[in-house]
Amino acid sequence: MASELSHLTSSLASALSNLPAPKKIPDGERMQLLGIINKLQEALEPPQLPLQRFCFSHYGIAVIRIAQGMGIFEAFIESQGQEIPLEELSSKILHEEPANDVAERIMRFLSTQNIFKQTTSGSYKPLPLAMVLGNGSPPGDMIKHLWEFPVILMVTAKLFDYFERNDYKSPDDSNHAPFQLAYNTDSHYFEWLSQNSDKQQVFNSVMTQSQQYRGEDWFEIYPVEERLRASPDQVLLVDIGGGVGHDITAFQKRFPSLPGRLILQDLPQVINTIKEPLPEGIAAIGHNMFDKQPIDGALAYYMRTVLHDFPDKQALDALARIRDAMTEDSVLLIHEHTMPDGPDVPSIAATLDIHMMEMFASLERTENEWVALLTTAGLRVVNVWNEDSFGQSTALFEARLNRV
Ligand SMILES: C[S@@+](CC[C@H](N)C(=O)[O-])C[C@H]1O[C@@H](n2cnc3c(N)ncnc32)[C@H](O)[C@@H]1O
Repeated sequence: MASELSHLTSSLASALSNLPAPKKIPDGERMQLLGIINKLQEALEPPQLPLQRFCFSHYGIAVIRIAQGMGIFEAFIESQGQEIPLEELSSKILHEEPANDVAERIMRFLSTQNIFKQTTSGSYKPLPLAMVLGNGSPPGDMIKHLWEFPVILMVTAKLFDYFERNDYKSPDDSNHAPFQLAYNTDSHYFEWLSQNSDKQQVFNSVMTQSQQYRGEDWFEIYPVEERLRASPDQVLLVDIGGGVGHDITAFQKRFPSLPGRLILQDLPQVINTIKEPLPEGIAAIGHNMFDKQPIDGALAYYMRTVLHDFPDKQALDALARIRDAMTEDSVLLIHEHTMPDGPDVPSIAATLDIHMMEMFASLERTENEWVALLTTAGLRVVNVWNEDSFGQSTALFEARLNRV
Protein backbone atom coordinates (compact mmCIF):
# COMPACT_ATOMS: atom_id res chain seq x y z
CA MET A 1 0.00 0.00 0.00
CA ALA A 2 2.73 2.45 1.04
CA SER A 3 4.64 1.84 -2.18
CA GLU A 4 1.45 2.17 -4.27
CA LEU A 5 0.81 5.56 -2.68
CA SER A 6 4.41 6.69 -3.09
CA HIS A 7 4.15 5.63 -6.73
CA LEU A 8 0.98 7.74 -7.06
CA THR A 9 2.73 10.70 -5.40
CA SER A 10 5.68 10.52 -7.76
CA SER A 11 3.42 10.10 -10.81
CA LEU A 12 1.45 13.17 -9.81
CA ALA A 13 4.64 15.16 -9.11
CA SER A 14 5.97 14.18 -12.52
CA ALA A 15 2.63 15.06 -14.19
CA LEU A 16 2.84 18.47 -12.53
CA SER A 17 6.36 19.15 -13.70
CA ASN A 18 5.48 18.12 -17.25
CA LEU A 19 2.26 20.10 -17.45
CA PRO A 20 2.11 22.27 -20.61
CA ALA A 21 1.81 26.03 -20.16
CA PRO A 22 -1.75 26.71 -18.89
CA LYS A 23 -2.73 28.70 -22.01
CA LYS A 24 -1.83 25.74 -24.24
CA ILE A 25 -4.27 23.34 -22.56
CA PRO A 26 -7.60 23.08 -24.43
CA ASP A 27 -10.54 23.99 -22.18
CA GLY A 28 -12.29 20.62 -22.54
CA GLU A 29 -9.22 18.71 -21.36
CA ARG A 30 -8.57 21.26 -18.64
CA MET A 31 -12.05 20.75 -17.19
CA GLN A 32 -11.72 16.97 -17.46
CA LEU A 33 -8.41 17.01 -15.58
CA LEU A 34 -9.76 19.35 -12.92
CA GLY A 35 -12.72 16.99 -12.47
CA ILE A 36 -10.36 14.08 -11.78
CA ILE A 37 -8.22 16.15 -9.43
CA ASN A 38 -11.36 17.14 -7.58
CA LYS A 39 -12.39 13.49 -7.21
CA LEU A 40 -8.89 12.56 -6.05
CA GLN A 41 -8.97 15.30 -3.43
CA GLU A 42 -12.40 14.16 -2.25
CA ALA A 43 -11.16 10.57 -1.97
CA LEU A 44 -8.07 11.60 -0.01
CA GLU A 45 -9.42 14.16 2.42
CA PRO A 46 -10.58 13.28 5.90
CA PRO A 47 -13.82 15.22 6.73
CA GLN A 48 -12.08 17.83 8.89
CA LEU A 49 -10.28 19.31 5.87
CA PRO A 50 -13.40 20.20 3.79
CA LEU A 51 -15.11 21.28 7.02
CA GLN A 52 -12.27 23.69 7.75
CA ARG A 53 -12.62 25.09 4.26
CA PHE A 54 -16.41 25.52 4.57
CA CYS A 55 -16.05 27.28 7.90
CA PHE A 56 -13.33 29.69 6.89
CA SER A 57 -13.73 30.22 3.15
CA HIS A 58 -15.03 33.79 3.58
CA TYR A 59 -11.63 34.97 4.81
CA GLY A 60 -10.18 34.56 1.32
CA ILE A 61 -12.28 37.30 -0.20
CA ALA A 62 -11.90 39.55 2.87
CA VAL A 63 -8.11 39.32 2.89
CA ILE A 64 -7.86 39.88 -0.87
CA ARG A 65 -9.99 42.99 -0.39
CA ILE A 66 -7.65 44.23 2.38
CA ALA A 67 -4.65 43.58 0.12
CA GLN A 68 -6.36 45.61 -2.62
CA GLY A 69 -6.99 48.41 -0.13
CA MET A 70 -3.31 48.40 0.86
CA GLY A 71 -2.21 48.54 -2.78
CA ILE A 72 -0.37 45.21 -2.54
CA PHE A 73 -1.37 43.92 -5.98
CA GLU A 74 -0.58 47.26 -7.62
CA ALA A 75 2.94 47.10 -6.13
CA PHE A 76 3.55 43.73 -7.80
CA ILE A 77 2.00 44.88 -11.08
CA GLU A 78 4.40 47.86 -10.97
CA SER A 79 7.35 45.54 -10.30
CA GLN A 80 6.22 43.56 -13.38
CA GLY A 81 5.88 40.39 -11.40
CA GLN A 82 9.31 40.52 -9.75
CA GLU A 83 9.56 39.32 -6.14
CA ILE A 84 9.58 42.02 -3.47
CA PRO A 85 11.12 41.74 0.03
CA LEU A 86 8.58 42.37 2.80
CA GLU A 87 10.43 45.47 4.09
CA GLU A 88 10.43 47.03 0.66
CA LEU A 89 6.78 46.13 0.09
CA SER A 90 5.78 47.69 3.38
CA SER A 91 7.69 50.91 2.67
CA LYS A 92 6.24 51.04 -0.83
CA ILE A 93 2.60 50.62 0.13
CA LEU A 94 2.45 52.09 3.62
CA HIS A 95 5.63 54.15 3.73
CA GLU A 96 6.50 52.28 6.89
CA GLU A 97 9.75 50.70 7.93
CA PRO A 98 10.31 48.28 9.56
CA ALA A 99 7.63 46.17 7.94
CA ASN A 100 4.09 46.75 9.09
CA ASP A 101 2.81 43.59 10.77
CA VAL A 102 -0.55 43.72 8.92
CA ALA A 103 1.33 43.50 5.60
CA GLU A 104 3.19 40.48 6.93
CA ARG A 105 0.05 38.73 8.14
CA ILE A 106 -1.82 39.45 4.92
CA MET A 107 1.07 38.22 2.77
CA ARG A 108 1.42 35.09 4.88
CA PHE A 109 -2.28 34.30 4.44
CA LEU A 110 -2.27 34.99 0.70
CA SER A 111 0.75 32.72 0.32
CA THR A 112 -1.38 29.85 1.67
CA GLN A 113 -3.97 30.56 -1.03
CA ASN A 114 -1.80 30.20 -4.14
CA ILE A 115 -1.69 33.96 -4.66
CA PHE A 116 1.92 34.62 -3.58
CA LYS A 117 4.86 32.40 -2.82
CA GLN A 118 7.13 33.27 0.08
CA THR A 119 10.80 32.72 -0.68
CA THR A 120 13.36 31.56 1.85
CA SER A 121 14.88 35.04 1.86
CA GLY A 122 11.63 36.62 3.12
CA SER A 123 10.55 38.02 -0.22
CA TYR A 124 7.22 37.41 -1.92
CA LYS A 125 6.82 36.31 -5.49
CA PRO A 126 3.44 36.92 -7.14
CA LEU A 127 1.74 33.87 -8.66
CA PRO A 128 -0.45 34.41 -11.76
CA LEU A 129 -3.58 35.13 -9.69
CA ALA A 130 -1.86 38.04 -7.89
CA MET A 131 -1.26 39.76 -11.21
CA VAL A 132 -4.97 39.91 -12.07
CA LEU A 133 -6.28 41.15 -8.73
CA GLY A 134 -5.32 44.81 -9.15
CA ASN A 135 -7.82 47.62 -9.52
CA GLY A 136 -9.58 47.82 -12.86
CA SER A 137 -9.12 44.16 -13.76
CA PRO A 138 -12.29 42.02 -13.99
CA PRO A 139 -11.38 39.57 -11.21
CA GLY A 140 -10.13 42.44 -9.05
CA ASP A 141 -13.32 44.42 -9.52
CA MET A 142 -15.38 41.28 -8.98
CA ILE A 143 -13.88 40.99 -5.50
CA LYS A 144 -14.65 44.65 -4.91
CA HIS A 145 -18.18 44.05 -6.11
CA LEU A 146 -18.56 41.24 -3.64
CA TRP A 147 -16.88 42.96 -0.75
CA GLU A 148 -17.17 46.72 -1.24
CA PHE A 149 -20.84 46.77 -0.37
CA PRO A 150 -20.36 44.22 1.38
CA VAL A 151 -23.71 43.25 0.03
CA ILE A 152 -23.41 39.60 -0.75
CA LEU A 153 -21.71 38.50 2.45
CA MET A 154 -24.27 40.40 4.50
CA VAL A 155 -27.09 38.73 2.60
CA THR A 156 -25.55 35.28 2.86
CA ALA A 157 -25.14 35.78 6.60
CA LYS A 158 -28.93 36.21 6.81
CA LEU A 159 -29.86 33.32 4.52
CA PHE A 160 -30.43 30.77 7.26
CA ASP A 161 -32.43 33.30 9.24
CA TYR A 162 -34.57 33.96 6.13
CA PHE A 163 -35.45 30.29 5.74
CA GLU A 164 -36.17 29.85 9.44
CA ARG A 165 -38.68 32.71 9.19
CA ASN A 166 -40.17 31.52 5.91
CA ASP A 167 -40.70 27.81 6.56
CA TYR A 168 -37.97 26.84 4.11
CA LYS A 169 -39.96 28.00 1.08
CA SER A 170 -38.15 29.31 -1.99
CA PRO A 171 -38.50 33.08 -2.20
CA ASP A 172 -40.54 34.07 -5.28
CA ASP A 173 -40.91 37.83 -4.96
CA SER A 174 -37.81 39.88 -5.72
CA ASN A 175 -38.99 42.62 -3.36
CA HIS A 176 -39.05 40.13 -0.49
CA ALA A 177 -35.87 38.11 -0.91
CA PRO A 178 -33.12 37.47 1.65
CA PHE A 179 -31.48 40.68 0.34
CA GLN A 180 -34.36 42.78 1.72
CA LEU A 181 -34.18 41.00 5.08
CA ALA A 182 -30.42 41.62 5.34
CA TYR A 183 -30.73 45.30 4.40
CA ASN A 184 -34.04 45.95 6.12
CA THR A 185 -35.40 47.50 2.94
CA ASP A 186 -38.40 47.12 0.64
CA SER A 187 -36.38 48.20 -2.38
CA HIS A 188 -35.47 45.81 -5.14
CA TYR A 189 -31.70 45.29 -5.33
CA PHE A 190 -31.46 47.36 -8.56
CA GLU A 191 -33.41 50.21 -6.98
CA TRP A 192 -31.18 50.03 -3.89
CA LEU A 193 -28.11 50.11 -6.16
CA SER A 194 -29.40 53.31 -7.74
CA GLN A 195 -29.46 54.96 -4.32
CA ASN A 196 -25.85 53.94 -3.72
CA SER A 197 -24.01 55.44 -6.64
CA ASP A 198 -20.55 54.09 -5.71
CA LYS A 199 -21.96 50.56 -5.66
CA GLN A 200 -23.84 51.16 -8.90
CA GLN A 201 -20.55 52.20 -10.55
CA VAL A 202 -18.77 49.06 -9.35
CA PHE A 203 -21.66 46.87 -10.51
CA ASN A 204 -21.63 48.48 -13.97
CA SER A 205 -17.90 48.07 -14.32
CA VAL A 206 -18.05 44.40 -13.24
CA MET A 207 -20.69 43.78 -15.92
CA THR A 208 -18.61 45.56 -18.55
CA GLN A 209 -15.35 43.88 -17.67
CA SER A 210 -16.78 40.42 -17.16
CA GLN A 211 -17.52 40.46 -20.88
CA GLN A 212 -14.02 39.20 -21.57
CA TYR A 213 -14.54 36.20 -19.26
CA ARG A 214 -17.64 34.97 -21.01
CA GLY A 215 -17.98 32.38 -23.71
CA GLU A 216 -18.80 33.38 -27.27
CA ASP A 217 -20.64 36.63 -27.89
CA TRP A 218 -24.22 36.05 -29.10
CA PHE A 219 -23.41 37.56 -32.50
CA GLU A 220 -20.74 34.92 -33.14
CA ILE A 221 -23.37 32.21 -32.58
CA TYR A 222 -26.41 33.73 -34.27
CA PRO A 223 -26.52 33.98 -38.10
CA VAL A 224 -26.62 37.77 -37.91
CA GLU A 225 -26.03 38.63 -41.56
CA GLU A 226 -28.55 36.09 -42.76
CA ARG A 227 -31.37 36.97 -40.34
CA LEU A 228 -30.90 40.58 -39.27
CA ARG A 229 -31.50 42.57 -42.43
CA ALA A 230 -33.05 45.88 -41.42
CA SER A 231 -33.75 48.92 -43.56
CA PRO A 232 -31.58 51.95 -42.69
CA ASP A 233 -34.40 53.79 -40.87
CA GLN A 234 -35.58 50.70 -38.96
CA VAL A 235 -34.32 49.76 -35.51
CA LEU A 236 -32.01 46.80 -36.01
CA LEU A 237 -31.54 45.84 -32.37
CA VAL A 238 -32.59 46.94 -28.90
CA ASP A 239 -30.31 45.70 -26.11
CA ILE A 240 -32.61 45.69 -23.07
CA GLY A 241 -30.80 45.79 -19.71
CA GLY A 242 -27.59 46.27 -21.68
CA GLY A 243 -25.76 48.03 -18.84
CA VAL A 244 -23.49 50.81 -20.07
CA GLY A 245 -23.36 49.46 -23.61
CA HIS A 246 -20.47 46.96 -23.73
CA ASP A 247 -22.42 44.32 -25.67
CA ILE A 248 -24.06 46.59 -28.23
CA THR A 249 -20.79 48.44 -28.85
CA ALA A 250 -19.02 45.13 -29.49
CA PHE A 251 -21.85 44.13 -31.86
CA GLN A 252 -21.52 47.37 -33.84
CA LYS A 253 -17.74 46.94 -34.02
CA ARG A 254 -18.16 43.41 -35.36
CA PHE A 255 -20.81 44.39 -37.95
CA PRO A 256 -20.09 48.06 -38.71
CA SER A 257 -21.97 48.20 -41.98
CA LEU A 258 -25.26 46.49 -41.09
CA PRO A 259 -28.10 48.91 -41.84
CA GLY A 260 -30.48 49.95 -39.06
CA ARG A 261 -30.33 51.81 -35.77
CA LEU A 262 -29.04 50.37 -32.51
CA ILE A 263 -30.68 51.16 -29.18
CA LEU A 264 -29.27 50.55 -25.73
CA GLN A 265 -31.78 50.46 -22.88
CA ASP A 266 -31.22 50.16 -19.16
CA LEU A 267 -32.60 51.82 -16.04
CA PRO A 268 -32.12 55.63 -16.16
CA GLN A 269 -29.71 55.50 -13.20
CA VAL A 270 -27.46 53.14 -15.20
CA ILE A 271 -27.70 55.07 -18.49
CA ASN A 272 -26.87 58.27 -16.59
CA THR A 273 -23.53 56.81 -15.51
CA ILE A 274 -22.31 56.53 -19.13
CA LYS A 275 -19.39 58.95 -19.26
CA GLU A 276 -18.05 58.72 -22.81
CA PRO A 277 -20.53 59.23 -25.65
CA LEU A 278 -21.48 55.93 -27.28
CA PRO A 279 -20.27 55.40 -30.87
CA GLU A 280 -22.37 57.01 -33.59
CA GLY A 281 -25.34 54.89 -34.54
CA ILE A 282 -26.04 53.73 -30.96
CA ALA A 283 -28.65 55.65 -28.97
CA ALA A 284 -29.03 55.12 -25.21
CA ILE A 285 -32.45 55.33 -23.59
CA GLY A 286 -33.18 55.20 -19.88
CA HIS A 287 -36.08 52.76 -19.72
CA ASN A 288 -37.62 50.48 -17.14
CA MET A 289 -38.43 47.20 -18.90
CA PHE A 290 -41.62 46.83 -16.85
CA ASP A 291 -43.02 49.94 -18.57
CA LYS A 292 -44.38 50.04 -22.13
CA GLN A 293 -41.56 49.35 -24.59
CA PRO A 294 -41.01 52.65 -26.45
CA ILE A 295 -39.44 51.02 -29.54
CA ASP A 296 -42.10 49.24 -31.60
CA GLY A 297 -41.27 46.83 -34.40
CA ALA A 298 -37.50 46.53 -33.96
CA LEU A 299 -36.00 43.68 -35.93
CA ALA A 300 -34.36 42.21 -32.80
CA TYR A 301 -34.84 42.66 -29.08
CA TYR A 302 -31.91 41.23 -27.15
CA MET A 303 -31.35 40.53 -23.47
CA ARG A 304 -28.31 39.02 -21.87
CA THR A 305 -28.46 37.72 -18.29
CA VAL A 306 -31.22 40.13 -17.37
CA LEU A 307 -34.17 37.79 -16.89
CA HIS A 308 -32.24 35.38 -14.66
CA ASP A 309 -32.33 38.21 -12.10
CA PHE A 310 -36.13 37.89 -11.92
CA PRO A 311 -38.56 35.19 -10.75
CA ASP A 312 -41.16 34.01 -13.27
CA LYS A 313 -43.86 36.54 -12.34
CA GLN A 314 -41.63 39.56 -13.03
CA ALA A 315 -39.83 37.92 -15.96
CA LEU A 316 -43.24 37.34 -17.59
CA ASP A 317 -44.20 41.00 -17.03
CA ALA A 318 -40.99 42.15 -18.74
CA LEU A 319 -41.53 39.69 -21.60
CA ALA A 320 -45.11 40.90 -22.08
CA ARG A 321 -43.84 44.47 -22.66
CA ILE A 322 -41.47 43.18 -25.34
CA ARG A 323 -44.08 40.93 -26.95
CA ASP A 324 -46.46 43.91 -27.21
CA ALA A 325 -43.81 45.83 -29.18
CA MET A 326 -42.84 42.95 -31.49
CA THR A 327 -44.15 42.51 -35.04
CA GLU A 328 -44.22 39.35 -37.18
CA ASP A 329 -40.69 40.17 -38.37
CA SER A 330 -39.21 40.74 -34.91
CA VAL A 331 -37.08 38.23 -33.06
CA LEU A 332 -36.36 38.11 -29.36
CA LEU A 333 -32.86 36.89 -28.54
CA ILE A 334 -32.27 35.78 -24.96
CA HIS A 335 -28.71 34.87 -24.02
CA GLU A 336 -28.76 33.22 -20.63
CA HIS A 337 -27.14 30.84 -18.20
CA THR A 338 -28.72 27.41 -18.20
CA MET A 339 -28.80 24.93 -15.35
CA PRO A 340 -27.85 21.49 -16.68
CA ASP A 341 -30.41 18.73 -16.15
CA GLY A 342 -29.43 15.62 -14.21
CA PRO A 343 -26.38 14.80 -12.08
CA ASP A 344 -22.89 16.35 -12.15
CA VAL A 345 -24.10 19.94 -12.19
CA PRO A 346 -21.01 22.17 -12.15
CA SER A 347 -20.43 24.00 -8.89
CA ILE A 348 -20.64 27.45 -10.53
CA ALA A 349 -24.16 26.77 -11.86
CA ALA A 350 -25.48 25.56 -8.48
CA THR A 351 -23.72 28.45 -6.71
CA LEU A 352 -25.18 31.09 -9.02
CA ASP A 353 -28.60 29.55 -8.45
CA ILE A 354 -28.25 30.21 -4.69
CA HIS A 355 -26.94 33.70 -5.49
CA MET A 356 -29.97 34.47 -7.68
CA MET A 357 -32.22 33.20 -4.91
CA GLU A 358 -30.71 35.34 -2.15
CA MET A 359 -30.42 38.58 -4.11
CA PHE A 360 -33.48 38.45 -6.35
CA ALA A 361 -35.74 35.54 -5.27
CA SER A 362 -34.82 34.23 -8.70
CA LEU A 363 -33.21 31.08 -10.06
CA GLU A 364 -30.93 29.64 -12.72
CA ARG A 365 -33.33 27.97 -15.18
CA THR A 366 -32.84 24.80 -17.18
CA GLU A 367 -33.20 25.02 -20.95
CA ASN A 368 -36.70 23.52 -20.65
CA GLU A 369 -37.64 26.08 -18.00
CA TRP A 370 -36.50 28.92 -20.29
CA VAL A 371 -38.52 27.50 -23.17
CA ALA A 372 -41.57 27.12 -20.89
CA LEU A 373 -41.17 30.71 -19.67
CA LEU A 374 -40.98 32.09 -23.21
CA THR A 375 -43.92 29.95 -24.30
CA THR A 376 -46.03 31.14 -21.38
CA ALA A 377 -45.16 34.69 -22.46
CA GLY A 378 -46.85 34.02 -25.82
CA LEU A 379 -43.65 33.45 -27.76
CA ARG A 380 -42.48 30.58 -29.90
CA VAL A 381 -38.89 29.39 -29.45
CA VAL A 382 -37.59 28.66 -32.93
CA ASN A 383 -33.92 27.94 -32.18
CA VAL A 384 -31.63 27.27 -29.25
CA TRP A 385 -27.83 27.34 -29.39
CA ASN A 386 -26.00 25.79 -26.42
CA GLU A 387 -22.51 26.50 -25.21
CA ASP A 388 -20.28 25.50 -22.28
CA SER A 389 -17.49 27.66 -21.00
CA PHE A 390 -15.53 26.75 -17.84
CA GLY A 391 -18.41 24.79 -16.37
CA GLN A 392 -20.93 27.52 -17.13
CA SER A 393 -23.62 26.42 -19.59
CA THR A 394 -25.33 29.12 -21.60
CA ALA A 395 -27.95 29.14 -24.32
CA LEU A 396 -29.04 31.63 -26.92
CA PHE A 397 -32.80 31.40 -27.47
CA GLU A 398 -34.40 32.81 -30.62
CA ALA A 399 -38.10 33.45 -30.20
CA ARG A 400 -40.84 34.92 -32.36
CA LEU A 401 -44.44 35.92 -31.79
CA ASN A 402 -46.69 32.93 -31.35
CA ARG A 403 -49.65 33.94 -33.47
CA VAL A 404 -52.19 31.15 -33.91
C1 LIG B 1 -26.79 41.06 -14.78
S1 LIG B 1 -26.84 42.65 -15.54
C2 LIG B 1 -26.55 42.22 -17.25
C3 LIG B 1 -26.02 43.39 -18.03
C4 LIG B 1 -25.73 43.08 -19.51
N1 LIG B 1 -26.88 42.66 -20.24
C5 LIG B 1 -24.65 42.03 -19.58
O1 LIG B 1 -24.92 40.90 -19.94
O2 LIG B 1 -23.50 42.36 -19.23
C6 LIG B 1 -28.57 43.01 -15.51
C7 LIG B 1 -28.88 44.38 -16.11
O3 LIG B 1 -30.29 44.55 -16.11
C8 LIG B 1 -30.56 45.89 -15.77
N2 LIG B 1 -31.91 46.01 -15.25
C9 LIG B 1 -32.38 45.54 -14.06
N3 LIG B 1 -33.67 45.85 -13.91
C10 LIG B 1 -34.04 46.52 -15.03
C11 LIG B 1 -35.25 47.11 -15.46
N4 LIG B 1 -36.35 47.08 -14.68
N5 LIG B 1 -35.29 47.71 -16.66
C12 LIG B 1 -34.18 47.76 -17.44
N6 LIG B 1 -32.99 47.21 -17.09
C13 LIG B 1 -32.92 46.61 -15.89
C14 LIG B 1 -29.51 46.19 -14.72
O4 LIG B 1 -29.35 47.58 -14.48
C15 LIG B 1 -28.29 45.53 -15.32
O5 LIG B 1 -27.59 46.40 -16.18
